[in-house]
Amino acid sequence: MIKSIILGAGKGTRMKSDMPKVLHTIFDKALLGYVIDAVNGTNLIDENYIIVGHQAEEVESYVKSNYENSKCVLQSPQLGTGHAVSMALPYLKDFEGEAVILCGDTPLITSDTLKEFIEHHKANNSDITVMSAIFENPANYGRIIRNSDGTLNSIVEEKDADAEQKAVKEINAGIYCVNWGKIKSAFSELKTNNAQGEYYLTDIIKWGNENKLRVNAYTLKNNEEIFGINSKANLAEAYKLLNRRVVKKHLENGVTIVDPDTTWISPETEIGADTIIYPSCYINGKNKIGSHCKIGPFAHLRGDVILEDYVKIGNFVEVKKTTVKSHTNACHLTYLGDSEIGSNVNIGAGTITANYNPLTNVKSKTIIKDNVKIGSNSVLVAPLVIEEGTNVGALSAITKNLPSWALAITRAPLRVVENWVSRHKD
Ligand code: UD1
Ligand code: CA
Repeated sequence: MIKSIILGAGKGTRMKSDMPKVLHTIFDKALLGYVIDAVNGTNLIDENYIIVGHQAEEVESYVKSNYENSKCVLQSPQLGTGHAVSMALPYLKDFEGEAVILCGDTPLITSDTLKEFIEHHKANNSDITVMSAIFENPANYGRIIRNSDGTLNSIVEEKDADAEQKAVKEINAGIYCVNWGKIKSAFSELKTNNAQGEYYLTDIIKWGNENKLRVNAYTLKNNEEIFGINSKANLAEAYKLLNRRVVKKHLENGVTIVDPDTTWISPETEIGADTIIYPSCYINGKNKIGSHCKIGPFAHLRGDVILEDYVKIGNFVEVKKTTVKSHTNACHLTYLGDSEIGSNVNIGAGTITANYNPLTNVKSKTIIKDNVKIGSNSVLVAPLVIEEGTNVGALSAITKNLPSWALAITRAPLRVVENWVSRHKD
């Protein structure tokens, strides 16, 4: 199996953040998490070495609690990308197979592209394959320098490039597949005689040529995949790009999305055909939405939400960690958290599941069985079970379990005082 080395020791100064760059999130998943998932999703790579440096402890604890097959390796101080990769040497002393090297701040890379890249490397019997891309504006990237016969010569960083080299539009995407056994001796030979005084990983191309290795490039088809995050503006753009990708997939699968530009759907949400999503919805985390549902406008699904078919979640409804069975409606101004809701239930406008006790920090469950009707503006204080078919009168606070087919109501009696206004005038 192949190993991966993921670089993430850099400081990320331009993020202007207290948080390590690779732990910034898109739909609540860390940038680094997207990269590791893409790598693991190839099913060709069994172990990942994450090079950490700045705020290493935070990154390490994230990796430890989320990825069993990934190990963090400390790089301190950070002397460049070549130096970063060499930190994995002690762990891969006897490893002779293929290694894929990538960066922790390119969350849009996909498993399919990585698979194709690795296949390209193998099909060409390559020792070093670098991923390249053609950019109309190649500024700030390393340029791919080719010989007159088209073979790879070297990679030159922008800061080291002359005018002719700067004009080259083929750039280094920063992803490599290497025959580890053949290139591991390169790291002791890298020099720092460049504009940044760093050990450049990119110098392995030249080194490979000098050592008669087979060096190739694979050109990326969709440039968006190597979009790197260096600033909050980049992060916002990546969020949009990823969302557009997810929305497109659902449209192709038969989901109606009225306004793709204002509909946010996390990659881990499944949606059945013929469901309609109205504008301005934010669907975060892992969810499963059935067919023929109607969501929004202005709905917020916060994760671990399962909606069966024909469910309506209307405007200003927030749902979290909740299962809703078929043909149930919560159409207006409602919070449903930590709940199990049956089918053919009507949740009236303004209903709140009071699931959280701020004194004990405990969250409790609300269970509502089939055919229950909850009147408007009711508060359901969890833990709570409402048995089948019961009606809750509007404006009730329900603090204990309710039997089936009953009426429960806590409303104060209505008092009408005749002529009260006329008497109090003047
Ligand atoms: C690098 C490439 C450049 C390529 C670009 C693609 C080199 C010398 N240049 O440039 O050719 O076009 O990526 O995005 O490799 N890192 C460490 N330790 C270090 C230095 C960097 O872990 O000592 C990590 C960073 O956290 C980052 C990655 O390596 O994730 C790339 O480093 P960065 O400084 O951003 O390189 P670029 O200048 O973008
Ligand atoms: Ca970079």
